[in-house]
Amino acid sequence: MRTGFVSSDLASGDARVPDHTGLSKEAINRDFPILSRKINGKRLVYLDSAATTQKPQCVIDRIESYYASQNANVHRGLHTLAEEATSAFEATRDKIASFIGGVRREEIIYTRNATEAINLVAQSWGRKHIRENDRIVITRMEHHANLVPWLVLAEETGAELEYIPVDSQGRLILDNISNIIDSRTKIVALTQMSNVLGTINPVDEIIEVAHRRNAMVLIDGAQSVPHLPVDVKALDVDFMAFSAHKMLGPTGIGILYGRESLLDRMEPLIYGGEMISEVRYDSADWAELPWKFEAGTPNIAGAIGFAPALDYLNSTGMDKIREHEIELTEHALDRLAGLKFIRIYGPTSSEQRGGIISFVDSEIHPHDLAQFLDASGIAVRAGHHCAQPLMGLLGVNSTARASFYIYNTKDDIDELVSALRDARRYFIND
Ligand SMILES: Cc1ncc(COP(=O)(O)O)c(C=O)c1O
Repeated sequence: MRTGFVSSDLASGDARVPDHTGLSKEAINRDFPILSRKINGKRLVYLDSAATTQKPQCVIDRIESYYASQNANVHRGLHTLAEEATSAFEATRDKIASFIGGVRREEIIYTRNATEAINLVAQSWGRKHIRENDRIVITRMEHHANLVPWLVLAEETGAELEYIPVDSQGRLILDNISNIIDSRTKIVALTQMSNVLGTINPVDEIIEVAHRRNAMVLIDGAQSVPHLPVDVKALDVDFMAFSAHKMLGPTGIGILYGRESLLDRMEPLIYGGEMISEVRYDSADWAELPWKFEAGTPNIAGAIGFAPALDYLNSTGMDKIREHEIELTEHALDRLAGLKFIRIYGPTSSEQRGGIISFVDSEIHPHDLAQFLDASGIAVRAGHHCAQPLMGLLGVNSTARASFYIYNTKDDIDELVSALRDARRYFIND
């Protein structure tokens, strides 16, 4: 049996979330200390939030205050520190449950990251329900985190892995969707926002088709939950995975949302302490949800530090964050269109995409470009972005990628565009 805890608002502790968060220059300078850093003597222009986001001071303070004044293991002790740590750890769970649409706290499972959350479903739900000749449907734009676990499951079970295709603008082609999601389909797993193309997928339509076939749907929300208002109840989705570090929170803490009726019938993936209710020498019973899936000492500081990140996003407003990113994306698409040597991937309409722009220069390798930009203080990502099959489809080995968040401004984009021009002069005397 688990001792009860008081789910008070201890999660945010003494970390003060500022009254006026995000979006304005004053807030950015005040709240994100790393952005005042100089890189190679230049102002840091951080355009790599799709990889991980920067952390506001309130998150940094909360992690520090937890270790400085509350550090203890959770769920085990009866002393004050253990009770405080447990309350704060569990209070974050309540905040997450309400952040994604007011689900039950039992439906929120702490994992290490989105990758682990997807693997939990593929292995725990998948091994029980997927058989030879069943179908698993994903898309051609998935991150490896939502591709490799299904590839392995299909290989292990003899199931067929089928892909929803992508058009030349990086949008899903849904014309044939009722044949792709057929009566053999047991699960559809897809990203709500592509980490390469920025495409926002019409997941509601796909969920409807899948449910008509009695197939489950897992949404990879790693890029969408940080940037769009997401309501899992309104979507009627079965599983959703995301990571705290991509939404102002600490690394090492991820979330699996799962419908309670499904989680209830799933076997744990990891066995040991914390996930049991009773252990005998010859048998054991599992703990209730959500702890059944949380064996061993969890990332306590990570969960506790995630609470002020959620407060920060809530007080800025997810609608406002989306509007801000549409504005930045439109500005970037417009300015980059003026550079004839740059090719952009993904949808041309900002309504169909988030603030992620992959591009290549006709002459300069993305890695050289990223290094050149770094010399100007601009951080972008270059590589295959953990989507090698998609790179093949686009006919490239790698792209450069600029991705935006709450703290970016149009000035950041103008600096990127100007540095891309400088790169031409530097590399090819253009
Ligand atoms: C679309 C998408 N899915 C999954 C992941 C994996 O997230 P994590 O590395 O936090 O597990 C990422 C990370 O970039 C991503 O962009």
